[in-house]
Amino acid sequence: MSFFLIQMNFEGKDIISIKDFSKKEINYILEYAKEMVLYAKGEKYKGILKGKVLSSLFFEPSTRTRLSFESAMNRLGGRSIGFADPSATSQKKGESLADTIRMADAYSDLIVMRHPQEGAARLAAEFADAPVLNAGDGAGHHPTQCLLDLFTILTEKKRIGKNKIALIGDLKYGRTVHSLAYALSMYKAELTFVSPATLKMPKEVVDECIELGVEPTQTSSIDKVVKDADVLYVTRIQRERFPDAEEYNRVVGSYKINNELLQNAKEKLIIMHPLPRVTEIDPEVDATPHALYFKQAFNGVPVRMALLSLVSGGKL
Ligand code: NCD
Repeated sequence: MSFFLIQMNFEGKDIISIKDFSKKEINYILEYAKEMVLYAKGEKYKGILKGKVLSSLFFEPSTRTRLSFESAMNRLGGRSIGFADPSATSQKKGESLADTIRMADAYSDLIVMRHPQEGAARLAAEFADAPVLNAGDGAGHHPTQCLLDLFTILTEKKRIGKNKIALIGDLKYGRTVHSLAYALSMYKAELTFVSPATLKMPKEVVDECIELGVEPTQTSSIDKVVKDADVLYVTRIQRERFPDAEEYNRVVGSYKINNELLQNAKEKLIIMHPLPRVTEIDPEVDATPHALYFKQAFNGVPVRMALLSLVSGGKL
């Protein structure tokens, strides 16, 4: 690594929750990810993962997370195998998750997994010698998304702390905001949680923020939040996690970010979204300088390159 930082060793480490990392470790990963940007664009190449195989196991739909992991692996000279649809695997025949993981462990050097059940990634890590990277476990955690979100804020705002950051939408079921609220509290960002009353941030997450020294403001109204915000982090209502369709219909469309709402926003406001968006950001916003979500999605590649490289012990 060319930048000046005390070397840290992540070789063999699982990446299950952002809570497993110290702020120092997160800073290190983000600095390393900056080094990866030109490699992520294909403008530079170093095959530090040559000969390595990644198992990419997606038990839930994904576009960005899966493709950016696979792109990251390829960009560093590695290869990936796996599935995006578990109905085409032996899960369909009743195979246990533990056995599927044992197979991935036998066939590859690294495992990335998305699963509908909270805690599934932690379980998988117990059955695999290879590092397991959690690509989302139900409404639980999404640590690699969290790191790319932090990377985006850091590169756009030059720092993570001190920003006024509003997390908006489905704070109950959204895993990205669970990880991000925790991490942003480590950096002492000023947090506002905006959600319908039935989709508030879980109490455990709020309590963790408080323990880390941040007292988030909670509201259901977005109008007053926009004017002062440095970052709006918008999320989709997680339809697939609702036990009841009626309940979903009551809250869908609660928030819509459009140019009218942004009239009094700060010039440097950035709007982020883990994507996919459904109706919560009007496409007219895409053409404004506030729209950062597509760049944010690109940032998944350098950040995941950094992670794959670090856990497999390869270095730039
Ligand atoms: C998110 C997820 O899967 O949690 N997407 C992503 O990974 N970029 C957000 C979502 O599905 O709403």
